[in-house]
Parts: sequence; structure tokens; C-alpha cells
Amino acid sequence: MGFEEFILAAKEAKRIAFSFADPLIVHHYDADGISSGAIVKAAFVNENRKHRMLALKKLDDSSVESLKKENEIIFVDLGNNERVAELKDVLVIDHHQVKESGKPQINPMLHGLDGGSELSSSGTAFFTFGNNADLGVVGALGDMQYPLQGANAKMVEEGIAKGEVKQEFDLRFYGRYSRPLVQFLAYNDEPYVPGISYNEGNALRMLMDLGIELKKAERDRRYADLNSKEKKHLISGIAEIVSRRRDIRSLVGDVYELPKRPNKSMLRDANEFSTVLNACGRHGKPELGIAVCMGEETAYLEASAFILLHKRMIREGIEFAGKNVVDLGPFLFLDARGVVDEGLVGIVCGMLLHGSLKPILGISIGEENTIKVSSRVNKASGINLGKVMGCAEKVKGVGGGHVVAAGANIPSEKLNEFLIYCGENIREQRGF
Ligand code: C5P
Repeated sequence: MGFEEFILAAKEAKRIAFSFADPLIVHHYDADGISSGAIVKAAFVNENRKHRMLALKKLDDSSVESLKKENEIIFVDLGNNERVAELKDVLVIDHHQVKESGKPQINPMLHGLDGGSELSSSGTAFFTFGNNADLGVVGALGDMQYPLQGANAKMVEEGIAKGEVKQEFDLRFYGRYSRPLVQFLAYNDEPYVPGISYNEGNALRMLMDLGIELKKAERDRRYADLNSKEKKHLISGIAEIVSRRRDIRSLVGDVYELPKRPNKSMLRDANEFSTVLNACGRHGKPELGIAVCMGEETAYLEASAFILLHKRMIREGIEFAGKNVVDLGPFLFLDARGVVDEGLVGIVCGMLLHGSLKPILGISIGEENTIKVSSRVNKASGINLGKVMGCAEKVKGVGGGHVVAAGANIPSEKLNEFLIYCGENIREQRGF
């Protein structure tokens, strides 16, 4: 067990992948699924090998049925469904908690590495094929694996050596490349900066007091445009306010620049890149996300419209959730049916968590008379949500995922029954 053994298994997985003549690469549609799908695609492109791509929201029985006609399939960030056993030649590249199908699988979980916090599918694909550490980092951050540690840290080292990744210790606020300075300061609340967070006027005043120019050559400056002296001034200014109230550790930390991606775009910062991929995937355009990863210039321009839509829908989802979350005892519950899209409810739940030790379960309308359930919890709670969502099987649904982020699809009429099972499971896990 351990990293060396995982690397040996990754070599074998690469051999199996390249033994396929024209596989269908079936990947998940979130940021980690798209970046890992693109890593596999790039490996095939680099070797001039035939392949086809397909993105899925979930691997349920009907998708297994429709894949039966395929001779060779590589599942990426998907594949943990026992019925995969019914398909022909298959390789699974995944990081979720494993369900046995008897098919070859490269998964850190099989080698004692934590797929929930130490390596996502994109990292698994990177160690399998050796290309695109930058996308490896994008997928890991997209799956909330910050701080990057263990196998993820090894991937960062390799990315730095290849010039694909630059790690800096800097302000961790979101939007270093994409947000004008005032919005950059005002719309970050991790940590909450009293007087500045959600107050554009005060954010503007602070920048002016610090003598930081807001525009250059008619263009709004971004944090990434500031020189090191200006950055230092700004960080000390924020740190001074935050330190009056609380610990400033979450203010600065490792951030990841991707030097081979276009400068001054969201693709230059690994965290913002993952938002671009989520925006494409969760709004029905996963193939656009793959094209962005492959460096196709027009794809990023096309994706911009989805990014705006994605941000607006998340903002509206959070506003709704703030007023509608209820405490059902073992967990917090958000009924967002008809308001928040099934692809976004997990993101919204994650943003509502803050320091809470209670899991949050959110529901939205799923496909074909189902309810889509998304759940999120902080690691310190000690609850394994993959197991909680596994209760879906008791009501003829499908569910699973990670310790801290998991999901399920259940028949609509089984909601109450399912929630009761979830509550019981959480109580059992807590030991009362
Ligand atoms: O959809 P959502 O973002 O809530 O999913 C959280 C995690 O749970 C993802 O990693 C997803 O792959 C996993 N999941 C699963 N089975 C489902 C739904 C989600 O394994 N039916």
C-alpha cells in the first residue's frame, strides 16, 4: 500500500488504455471530470491514437445499458457502478470510494491514498499518463481538495518542474485574474473582512487610501496586475482589519498560476480555471470545457457567456438558500426544487457550509421523475457522506461519492423515506 504501489498500478493502467484501438472516453461533467477527461484525451492525441469522448452526469443503469454496444471504454471520474461488469473491455480511472465491478481500475483508494483529499481523478489521470499537471491541479481544486497535500503535492512538484504550474504564497481571494480590484475585495468572504466584505464603497475607499490605482490604460486593473509592493500594501491593509477580529491564517496560502495558459485570463489561475470548467459542464457544454483544456482559443471566448450565467445562477441559488435552509435535526435541508438547477445544488450547499459540523442535504429536480440530492459536510464532523448517500439503494435510487461531498438520484415519491434513512445513518455514524 502507498504511493509507489499506486504508481506501479498507474503504469499498468496506461498499458491497458493504450492497448485499446478506439476507446470511448466517458468522463464526468464537473471540473474534475472534465479536466481528467482532457488529460486522457491529450495523452491519446499526443500519441496519435483514435478515441471518442462522451460526458455523463451520472453512471446509472440506463447509461450502462446504452454503453453495452461499445467494445472499449475508459471511464474517467465515473465507473463505480457494479453493473460496469456487464460491459466489454473497460478501464476505470477514478477516485471515489470503490464498488467492485471486476474491471481494471486505477484509483488511489485501492492503494491507501485518500481520493477525497489527496488525489482527485485529474491527479490520477496525470500519474497514469504523465501529461498536463496543470489540469491535474485544476481538477483537484475543483473538487475542493485544498490544501494540496500528499500525492497532490507531488503532482504540483512535477508541474513546477515542467513549467506548467507556479506555486506562490499569496492572498487566497478568488478572482485574482478575473475581477476588477473593487469587486475582488468586496466579494470575498473567506475570511470575512469586517467593513469591506459586501461593501463596494468601503473596498474602493480602502484601495484609494492605499494609493493603489484602479485603472491602467482604460482597463480595470486586477490583483494579478499589481506589483509586489502594491500587493504587500494591500495584504497588510486587509490583515490589519482581519487580525482585530480573528485569525488571519486563511487570508494567505498557496495559490497556483498556470504559466502555459493565456495571460490575463481566468485560465491563468487554477481555481478560476475550475470555475470555467464547472460553468461549461453544468450548463450542458462539457465538450466546450474539454476544448478549453485542450487550449483551443475560441473555446474560451465561447465559454465566457456560460461563466456569466453560472455565476449569476450560483448567486441566486445562495440568496434563495440563505432564506430557505431548515434544520431537520441530524442534518440541514434545502429544498431547491424548481429554483436551483440539479448541476448547481451541490455547489450552493458547499458554499453554505462555513464552519458547521452538521451535513447539509440539498435537493433539486433530477431527470426522469427523480430527485437529485447533493450533500456536503466539513471533514471535522467525522461523517462519511458517501455512506449516507448510499442509502439511495434502499429506495431504488443510486448514490455515493466522497466523505465530504456526495450525491444521489432517487425516485421522486421516495423522498421522505430516503430522508429518514439518511437521518438514521448519520445518527449511527455519530454513535447515538
Ligand atoms: O452532484 P454532486 O456535486 O453533489 O456530487 C458530489 C460527489 O458525489 C461527486 O464526486 C459525484 O461524482 C458523487 N456522486 C456519486 N453518485 C451519485 C451522485 C454523485 O458518486 N449518484
